[in-house]
Amino acid sequence: MNFNETLENLRVSYQASSLDIDDCHSDPVVQFDKWLGEAISSKCDEPNAFILSTASDNRPRSRVVLLKGIHENNFVFYTNYESAKANELASNDQVAMTFLWLPLQRQIRIEGSVKKLSSELSEQYFHKRPRGSQLGAIASPQSQRVESRDALEKLFHETEAKFQQTEVLPMPFNWGGYMINASFLEFWQGRNNRMHDRICYERKGLAWDRFRVAP
Ligand SMILES: Cc1cc2nc3c(=O)[nH]c(=O)nc-3n(C[C@H](O)[C@H](O)[C@H](O)COP(=O)(O)O)c2cc1C
Repeated sequence: MNFNETLENLRVSYQASSLDIDDCHSDPVVQFDKWLGEAISSKCDEPNAFILSTASDNRPRSRVVLLKGIHENNFVFYTNYESAKANELASNDQVAMTFLWLPLQRQIRIEGSVKKLSSELSEQYFHKRPRGSQLGAIASPQSQRVESRDALEKLFHETEAKFQQTEVLPMPFNWGGYMINASFLEFWQGRNNRMHDRICYERKGLAWDRFRVAP
């Protein structure tokens, strides 16, 4: 089946809203919070999901992760510290994040640098996760090749059996959070005739330069 003609004709007219530079908060993290709140209350699916892009060895890579908090103005997500992305972050701490909230016809792009979150804060969050997710984090060698689905299930069941009598599971040494300190953000609101609104923030020392760019 060739979908090329269908793809060429797929077209959505964006008219849900508009974004004026004077209505954007001077602090981009406050503006982010406002849009995140609207994405949550509009019942966007997984509103905290974002595409995390890394670049190392001259090769960009992207995958989806979940925003789990904003700590001291930094965007926090959790993952395996031995995963492919963790290795990439170890060699280049520069990342890009992309949130897409289609029901609101909005996109937010963020660029910045990552640092590991303290193990205390990671631990606090680890213990708030459902037991099954904690077991999964202990059992799964994220990004490594596995023989089969059965082999993966075996790893999970072995971990489950090992900790059957353990009420509070230990956070694995290779799991924790990262926080992203933004240096650039762009708020994109879809508009009619592809004349979208794009309001950007660029860090200038302690202040933020705020400007509009063409769609
Ligand atoms: C909706 C969604 C949410 C996800 N959330 C996370 C997350 O918070 N942390 C994580 O490590 N992986 C998450 N993943 C899985 C990642 O996309 C990815 O497969 C995994 O982290 C391994 O990536 P890597 O091999 O590049 O390190 C999520 C995937 C999806 C589709």
